[in-house]
Amino acid sequence: MKTISVINYKGGVGKTTITANLAAELAYRGKRILAIDLDPQASLTFSFFTVDEWRKSYEGSKTIKNWYDAFIDKDTDLSLASLIAHPKRISVGRGKLDIICSHLALINVDLDLATRLIGGTERDLRNNFLRVHSRLRHGLESLNDREYDFVLIDCPPNFNIVTKTAIAASDYLLVPTKPDYLSTLGIEQLEKHVGELVKNYNKYVTDCGNKEWGKIGPETLGVLFTMIQIRNQQPISAQQPYIEQVKRLGVTTMNTFIRENKTIYADAPEYGVPVVLQRVSGKTYEDVQSELEELTTEVLGKVS
Ligand SMILES: Nc1ncnc2c1ncn2[C@@H]1O[C@H](COP(=O)(O)OP(=O)(O)OP(=O)(O)O)[C@@H](O)[C@H]1O
Ligand SMILES: [Mg+2]
Repeated sequence: MKTISVINYKGGVGKTTITANLAAELAYRGKRILAIDLDPQASLTFSFFTVDEWRKSYEGSKTIKNWYDAFIDKDTDLSLASLIAHPKRISVGRGKLDIICSHLALINVDLDLATRLIGGTERDLRNNFLRVHSRLRHGLESLNDREYDFVLIDCPPNFNIVTKTAIAASDYLLVPTKPDYLSTLGIEQLEKHVGELVKNYNKYVTDCGNKEWGKIGPETLGVLFTMIQIRNQQPISAQQPYIEQVKRLGVTTMNTFIRENKTIYADAPEYGVPVVLQRVSGKTYEDVQSELEELTTEVLGKVS
């Protein structure tokens, strides 16, 4: 089982859209996928479930917030497996697409987790740091390893503790970004902060000398350029400098570009089926879908 976090603390760059489509296409190709919505905006959740479905079946006790709450309130382990939901409106043939929903009140969990980090002695601090940050990593380890091929985590647009639990749980990070000034500025910061988190975590693991904790080392799959405006089969000249700028940073970039199409992407959550699996015809749809398929092939090539 490999875990991929879709992450960027810049908002609105296409994280949720990419998570939903990658999850759906991987499942369609026969993979067993668990998608986890870690964003209190719950956009991934509402890409697969209607608000009514969520209220009726999940809001009360079956969201990722309930799982963090069990740890915060009672120091107990609620099984992640007990939170798994099955979207009904989507059919993936041989594969499997399951979801763990988010909750609008997940926003409060970060503060509560932060208070968990406080400790009197250096040893307390270290143990609390590892206990909190390894929360999701350990939760995923307790899922039956053979049940899923991939876990895809849709991260919120921040670098708070919940997001850090996703990084610590990840084998890979996929970083969607828009090719514009503000979006590309954040890439260098993200790399730096992920590096610092990994360094601190692993130092604490070494210092505490306890075999219970393993070191972490998420690998960047690549920066994925989204919302590309295509002209003459390539990104418009206004976007090209930003793509070049990111490449010059030395970070890995994905070969696939995701083009901008506001109409097709905006309608998808209401429909409950990600764009890549919608049965529609026409050249515009084909172009959009084939890019998402290409992305899936590229990701598979990098992780297997
Ligand atoms: N390739 C695209 N072309 C046009 N619109 C897109 C594209 N991808 C996503 N969008 C739209 O842009 C908006 C933001 O996308 P999305 O929610 O996937 O971003 P996000 O990074 O997850 O945002 P947040 O940081 O708020 O979680 C949505 O309305 C979505 O429909
Ligand atoms: Mg999102």
